[in-house]
Amino acid sequence: MTIKQHFTYLKFTIILIATFGKLSAQVITIPIETSSKAVVLQVGADKQLRTIYMGQKLADSKEYESISNEYKQTEDHAGLLNSAYTPSGARNLVEPAITVTHTDGNQSLDLRYVSHEVKTVSEGVSLLTVTLQDNVYNFYVTLCYKSYNKNDVIEQWSIIRHNEKSSVTLQKFASANLHIKGNGFWLKQFHGDWAKEMQPEESKLTHGIKTIDSKLGTRANLFMPSVFAISMGSPAHEDEGSVLLGGLEWSGNFKVDFEVDNQDNLRLIAGMNNYASAYKLKAGDEFATPPLVYTLSNQGTGYASRNLQSWARNFKILEGKGNRLTLLNNWEATYFDFNEQKLGELLKDTRKLGVDLFLLDDGWFGNNYPRNGDNAGLGDWQENRKKLPNGIASIARQAAADGVKFGIWIEPEMVNPKSNLYKNHPDWVVKQPKRDEYYFRNQLALDLSNPKVQDFVYHIVDSLFIKAPSLAYIKWDCNAVIYNAYSVYLKSEQSNFYVEYVRGLYKVLQKIRAKYPTVPIMLCSGGGGRVDYGALQYFTEFWPSDNTDPMERIFIQWNYSYFYPAIATSAHVTDWGKQPIKFRTDVAMMGKLGFDIVLDKLSSSDMQFCQQAVVNYNSIKEVIWHGDQYRLRSPYEHNMASMMYVDEAKTSAVIFNYLVNNRYGESSRLPVKLKGLDPQKRYRIEEVNVYPGTRTSINSNFQLSGDFLMNVGINPDVNAQRTSVILKIVQVK
Ligand code: DGJ
Repeated sequence: MTIKQHFTYLKFTIILIATFGKLSAQVITIPIETSSKAVVLQVGADKQLRTIYMGQKLADSKEYESISNEYKQTEDHAGLLNSAYTPSGARNLVEPAITVTHTDGNQSLDLRYVSHEVKTVSEGVSLLTVTLQDNVYNFYVTLCYKSYNKNDVIEQWSIIRHNEKSSVTLQKFASANLHIKGNGFWLKQFHGDWAKEMQPEESKLTHGIKTIDSKLGTRANLFMPSVFAISMGSPAHEDEGSVLLGGLEWSGNFKVDFEVDNQDNLRLIAGMNNYASAYKLKAGDEFATPPLVYTLSNQGTGYASRNLQSWARNFKILEGKGNRLTLLNNWEATYFDFNEQKLGELLKDTRKLGVDLFLLDDGWFGNNYPRNGDNAGLGDWQENRKKLPNGIASIARQAAADGVKFGIWIEPEMVNPKSNLYKNHPDWVVKQPKRDEYYFRNQLALDLSNPKVQDFVYHIVDSLFIKAPSLAYIKWDCNAVIYNAYSVYLKSEQSNFYVEYVRGLYKVLQKIRAKYPTVPIMLCSGGGGRVDYGALQYFTEFWPSDNTDPMERIFIQWNYSYFYPAIATSAHVTDWGKQPIKFRTDVAMMGKLGFDIVLDKLSSSDMQFCQQAVVNYNSIKEVIWHGDQYRLRSPYEHNMASMMYVDEAKTSAVIFNYLVNNRYGESSRLPVKLKGLDPQKRYRIEEVNVYPGTRTSINSNFQLSGDFLMNVGINPDVNAQRTSVILKIVQVK
């Protein structure tokens, strides 16, 4: 039964039961189904809404009603362990999803089912809303479940409102409260710091609460992102086992609690962090929480990632189904030290290399306080007259004359104390009025809860496009965390600050996107300090890490790939690491390719290799950007890493192979089994990105069936002389 059919059936049942006067005893079962999975809610005779099932979809949806009978668990004690949105202050005994202080100071809440509704949003996308109401106070929560049928993905959030006499304080306001029954749960989480993003850790959850969270305000993912994997029954495997991948779509403080309760089940409560954020909600206003996005898989993490990546390309990331620009960036090539002449040379290099765009990084602005280092100038977005006497318009014109596009770096949310902006608008700066300032990279955040600051930030972007209408790309950076959180604008409502900052940021991004809907913008935060699906709906790509050592990037990009598609994962060839240019380029080609090197310093064969690599990338980028990704061989478990992309029609594929263990004799002794091909089709395999003057050991005259390639595999012949190998596979017709 589809959600729509179920709803009709449900309406019919309610009418029938109401006729016989038995409505109060009615049990209502509400399945949220996708192509192969189901989350099932149930309203009991007590009007409590509970999650009774998360797992494989059943052929007969009427059978969901019988699920609870089969669980013979220990006492619940409050009847709320599997509450679909656990309220607190009444009979609840565990971690709540919501905690409030009513207008009269009372802290209790007991949410009861009122109604539900299913709407079709678009083809294959439905929205279920369930309204709950407190049985004493005029207080309501609407739970929202947006399901994406094809991808087995659900976005879940809540909307809170009330009609009490004056403001209610929301002490806690989760987006989603899941409940999963199972025999043991393993959490895979990620931690990090600058240049160490997405370091994985996996552990078995024990009774009590494990929390992943951020209290950093901006650059919120610096120490950890909100993305996670929960495996049920055993630790996550790539192609087998039950797993849930999820993450909060929010670019600020978050909190995800994993509570193994007294019945040994998992209660998962995710949302904006309520740390220092008790929120004053006025009567009649709505408080919408950001979605928790998740996908369920019973075929391991690989299937789950492909679903999430496909969902992201089709529904979330800006221009997820579109194109991207390859580029040459000057950050590591020049740092702050450049002028018009130097940029002129870089534009020519961009053309020579064959990439689409030149990206001018930090250092182009500031006059009273020139941006010649990271300690001055942020906030003063006028071109530095010494470095760029003719302004960015002239650079953009020159780029056009050279046949390349032009992009620019900004960090519009931030200010250096050494700037005109700081002197002129101290009230726009996030800092405690009576305390010493404390800096992160010599800078402070601007108060984006303030509409005037939102306008200022919007105009930074708008005026760049007005000055240089051909501007084709922006890199939006955000390097500092928030210390001394305080907003002059919010006056006595300081505890709304962390929430309003992010809402202010999204307002600016929405306004920018209304005027410039498709221009590519890279989401950067001193590396991957702000990678989440809340932000990515406004951005075309993200910068995973300043760590571009290719060996490190194999691991970092591997971990991002659990949640994010390659089309959004920027990867640049730089001078980090000791590996030859081929290895560095081969790794960057696994994502959205760019370069950040001094071309003059390359030998002629290195230069020739890079130029050919760009040509090769253009021939395979379609499948990398829009194909399905298969993690074939993990660098954590093997001496090599293999990553594959296959197009939807299964006619072409690319496999990236890297030696990750440089000990004596390490090599690809066993063939790598490919995935996602058509067993019936025949394919030709060709090595690409072969370094000039060397020869491939792969025989491209050979044809092999998908059956062979997936069951026996192919050996990329990776060894100390061939540390990285890219194989292109094309169907032979
Ligand atoms: C941090 C970014 O991650 C770098 O790529 C670079 O843009 C610098 N900021 C510039 O200050």
